[in-house]
Amino acid sequence: MRGQHKAKVEAMALDLALLRSVQHFAEAFKAKNVPLHVLVCNAAAFALPWTLTKDGLETTFQVNHLGHFYLVQLLQDVLCRSAPARVIVVSSESHRFTDINDSLGKLDFSRLSPSKNDYWAMLAYNRSKLCNVLFSNELHRRLSPRGVTSNAVHPGNMMYSNIHRSWWVYTLLFTLARPFTKSMNVGLNDSDLELRRERTDVACGRHVQWPAVSLILKN
Ligand SMILES: NC(=O)c1ccc[n+]([C@@H]2O[C@H](COP(=O)([O-])OP(=O)(O)OC[C@H]3O[C@@H](n4cnc5c(N)ncnc54)[C@H](OP(=O)(O)O)[C@@H]3O)[C@@H](O)[C@H]2O)c1
Repeated sequence: MRGQHKAKVEAMALDLALLRSVQHFAEAFKAKNVPLHVLVCNAAAFALPWTLTKDGLETTFQVNHLGHFYLVQLLQDVLCRSAPARVIVVSSESHRFTDINDSLGKLDFSRLSPSKNDYWAMLAYNRSKLCNVLFSNELHRRLSPRGVTSNAVHPGNMMYSNIHRSWWVYTLLFTLARPFTKSMNVGLNDSDLELRRERTDVACGRHVQWPAVSLILKN
């Protein structure tokens, strides 16, 4: 935006914890009749105590994965009409430290939106981030022939943002780690790099770790 002084910026409300809100957002966006070239699915909840959303699903799962998934489904036709277009799903390296399959290797739906007794906040976050990667890869497979690419990215480890706000222990850990981790400014610049990199279509359909620690990762 810095280089585009004449850019018009408009904010619209969206609550990813409410499917109706996602639907309203998509309808309001479509009513504007503007193209959609870049969609960044960045929002996340982390370390939440167990709660159900109004839709009856575990909140971390709905905010981090399902809300974004639904949003992209609703805006898919706009993305395709706007091709070349790209979706960037902000995931995390922590997607590696979990599984959503049962012992027979089949998708275990109860792990996606677990009951209170089966809930562990960190695991719920990791699973939602794994869903992000799987979703991005499948989206890329389906839409890239129509000019819409998708990448899942890892922005950096323990970057000091607001993500720790649900529990003071995480606030303490993020504060202690802060001198040794990337700042949000670097993360933001890296995200811009990622957008530009995608323009050259070299890293599509994969999970990418943004530079300073630049790696291209496969799930
Ligand atoms: N920070 C890290 O070290 C790190 C590491 C790996 C991956 N990530 C990923 O990076 C992304 C950005 O995280 P961040 O570190 O910048 O955390 P953050 O500062 O907490 O940002 C998360 C954003 O999600 C929004 N959000 C939360 N619940 C929402 C809802 N129900 N509906 C709509 N928006 C909602 C928040 O909006 P409000 O402030 O209005 O609630 C906030 O803007 C996330 O996907 C995260 O998983 C971060």
